[in-house]
Amino acid sequence: MSDQGNFNLLVEGHPDPIVRAAAEWPAYKAAHPNGINLTIGVVADPGTMGVYQPPVMERAYRTAFEQTMQDQAHGYANAAGDLDFLTNFGAFAFGSEQYTAQAHDMLAYQTLGGTGALWMTKELLRELIRRDEAGRVPLLLDPGYVNHQHIFGAEEFNVATYQHADPATGAYNHHAALEAIAAMPAHTVLLLQVCGHNDDGADRTKTQWDEVLDAAQAREAVIVLDGAYLGLARGLADDIYPLAACAQRGLFTLACLSASKIMGVYGERLGALYVLNARRHLGDAQANNIDTTYRGNVRQTITGVPRLVARAGALALRDPEFLPQLSATRRRIRDNRIAFSVGAGSAAMGAATGWGLFTRMRAEGFTPDQHTALLSRDLYVLDFSRLNFAGMRDIEQAAWIGQVVADVLSNGNAA
Ligand SMILES: Cc1ncc(COP(=O)(O)O)c(C=O)c1O
Repeated sequence: MSDQGNFNLLVEGHPDPIVRAAAEWPAYKAAHPNGINLTIGVVADPGTMGVYQPPVMERAYRTAFEQTMQDQAHGYANAAGDLDFLTNFGAFAFGSEQYTAQAHDMLAYQTLGGTGALWMTKELLRELIRRDEAGRVPLLLDPGYVNHQHIFGAEEFNVATYQHADPATGAYNHHAALEAIAAMPAHTVLLLQVCGHNDDGADRTKTQWDEVLDAAQAREAVIVLDGAYLGLARGLADDIYPLAACAQRGLFTLACLSASKIMGVYGERLGALYVLNARRHLGDAQANNIDTTYRGNVRQTITGVPRLVARAGALALRDPEFLPQLSATRRRIRDNRIAFSVGAGSAAMGAATGWGLFTRMRAEGFTPDQHTALLSRDLYVLDFSRLNFAGMRDIEQAAWIGQVVADVLSNGNAA
């Protein structure tokens, strides 16, 4: 072994199964020309099976580009980002009534997608939250989105979780969630997925949200809401319920929102972080310090956020066609889910009752034999058994996929 000098031995970085699947997709597709990619959480265009971008966003992009060139708007953005985007996205995500009511005590920042909002939240929380005896910030999270565990690294955050879906039915395990919240230390950070739960689609009802928020308030939790699928699960009014509820209850809340899926801008990195009720809970000086800390973190990492995509996002959000197009996408995903569930019959489990893009067929994942069998039958799927209904072309294909999955689950290694 060569001399390591001053170097530490670097351990392998966190492998993300979805990123790895994306990298390996071209090779799979070459070997399986009819292969269907159900791994990555992207909304497919049913015509081309490329990435779907709503027409309203495409139009907005063209206008934003023209404006940018005309105004020579090529300078740095400020650390908070595009205020027009933030205002319109905030009204979309909290509902205009709650957004207007909250605006006086809300810090709003454009971020590099939902991931950027989560990362910036982590940076704030590691400074802001008092640590436990082991020197870590206690955090309870809705499990499923593997990146949460990686962002809130185990060295600084004491991450607890619970079984989100009942393994016997695939339905949301409300009892386990309430138990986990009741058992967490006071002032724990509680990270909850807003809707279209990634990875099992097992969403809370409004009543269940009320109960979860009551329990969280009783433990004086610091709430982080992660919304990447607003408008793509039950429908916008239902999907934003927890965001509006936290605003209405006056809770100190960090809302991490992604525009990637709803606007079809995965590669452009658009999202937002809204900090609610900071002044009310922490006072003016602390709220100002949150703001300056945040701006410092932006300056030290990315200096500013992308301007063109935020301009386009603002224009799209103001377009009356935006919400109808979002609803149409939601219905298409929903129709695929229903057709898949009919095709899968009794094997469907949580697929039939869930919402949004995803289901997870089995809590324990596919067996290696089942996974191999599915791959050999043109279904490019993850071994932990999350499927993406937005990656299916239409209801005929979805029903066929349901049949194949049910067949493989019942036969184990039927290739
Ligand atoms: C629950 C959840 N949060 C956050 C994100 C990240 O969103 P973005 O792609 O905008 O960074 C995703 C994306 O898959 C997600 O599923």
